[in-house]
Amino acid sequence: MINHIVSIKDIDKETILDIIQYAAKIEANPEVYAEKQKGKILSTIFFEPSTRTRLSFESAMLRLGGKVIGIADPKTSSLKKGESISDTIRMAAAYSDIIVMRHFLEGSGRVAAEYSSVPVVSGGTGIQEHPTQALLDLYTIYKEFGRIDNLTIGLLGDLRYGRTIPSLLYAFAKFNNVKIYLYSPQQLRARMTVLSDVEDKLEYRVEDNLEDTIDQLDVLYVTRVQKERFPDEQAYERVKGSFIISPDTLKNAKENMIVMHPLPRVGEIEYDVDDLPQARYFQQAKNGVWTRMSILDKLLEERK
Ligand code: NCD
Repeated sequence: MINHIVSIKDIDKETILDIIQYAAKIEANPEVYAEKQKGKILSTIFFEPSTRTRLSFESAMLRLGGKVIGIADPKTSSLKKGESISDTIRMAAAYSDIIVMRHFLEGSGRVAAEYSSVPVVSGGTGIQEHPTQALLDLYTIYKEFGRIDNLTIGLLGDLRYGRTIPSLLYAFAKFNNVKIYLYSPQQLRARMTVLSDVEDKLEYRVEDNLEDTIDQLDVLYVTRVQKERFPDEQAYERVKGSFIISPDTLKNAKENMIVMHPLPRVGEIEYDVDDLPQARYFQQAKNGVWTRMSILDKLLEERK
């Protein structure tokens, strides 16, 4: 197993499947796990806004019988006074048994893991990665199709700044015959550094036209344009409404195709889509709890 989760690149296919299958076992019988981590404490330290990641990790720890402490707003802690990541993490490691951290700096997860005496899990690292989101995304796909191999996945939206995208691509690259269609405005195409890491392991193509290719997809994974990462407001305004998924967009989709989104959405999926059989984003968010219970339990058990 692994000691920390800072990049999906560090986790092999067997371990990914192990985490997913354990999440399924937990989801089937959550009461069996209700005291599993009794007495253990999770620290959540978030330098950037979060709803789902922080709350689902907290919910996961509570559902395992553990307790939670945390900083949701850096302005209320010594982070505001300029304390370094390494000192903050050393303290959190002294006060708890496992840490989830979200930070805007690339490499911050790796630094935290280096200084921590307890397991560190990245809850999102700048534009670099969001490994546990990828794990819950894979869990969602696995639940739907019973496999990750041999699927065609459309990734749509802000492929440049969205951190769920690199983690997902690195994860898919570990499986067999996953085909990726990339849909985005020109300015928001996936970064070459990310694509070059996966290009010999999966087949990807940049596609302009969603309408003409949607019938080939098993999954359409939509992302928000990451306003906060843009150098200026005007650049954001130029691309923000580029793709909007409506019931009409999905009219030629395969019957069992699913629409996913890490959320929050800010207009890129119309509310009318929520009631269609393809919509999976709310279930996907809920799957985050089971996946994170699996992750926390596995990392904590590893240390016993
Ligand atoms: C994502 C994130 O923070 O990267 N949110 C999440 O964790 N579900 C996606 C986003 O903010 O667009």
